[in-house]
Amino acid sequence: MADTPYEILGQEGVRALADAFYDVMDELPEAADIRAMHADDLSSIKSKLAAYLTGWMGGPPVYLAMTGTVCLTEPHAPYHIGVKERDQWLMCMEAALERIGASDELKAMLKEPLFRVADTVRNDNVEPPAADNPNIIARG
Ligand code: HEM
Repeated sequence: MADTPYEILGQEGVRALADAFYDVMDELPEAADIRAMHADDLSSIKSKLAAYLTGWMGGPPVYLAMTGTVCLTEPHAPYHIGVKERDQWLMCMEAALERIGASDELKAMLKEPLFRVADTVRNDNVEPPAADNPNIIARG
């Protein structure tokens, strides 16, 4: 079994996944809400996502080198991303994995981590930080 998704996909595969992801978003009516948040021309965002996923999947940290961070909060802050938008994003990723012919092993490897990263990008209806949590009675 390969250690990382990057080892399975290679650089070409990651690029193909990012391209397929935005192609799917562009094509599927079910992804219309999140498609509308993006520019008409998807070429630069395809490259950015490929760069991000390269590092995230265990390859060289090219997005970090480009931007100085891997934090996704700021670039998404201008957009309303709730459960509906998160689920549209995940649906596009699932369809993109299908489209590039990803193996069952790779799909299983990515399922939970993809959910977690997409849910982290969600900025609507987010649980309050621990410091504001009324269930926590002792604060350090
Ligand atoms: C949860 C639903 C998500 C929505 C609705 C969403 C939407 C967007 C939008 C509208 C942009 C700006 C596009 C532009 O600049 O033209 C963007 C940028 C970006 N998104 Fe997402 N996104 C989501 C989740 C994610 C996830 C999970 C990742 C990574 C695994 C990701 C990676 C990126 C990257 C790398 C950029 C470019 C940031 C930059 O300018 O450097 N997004 N996203």
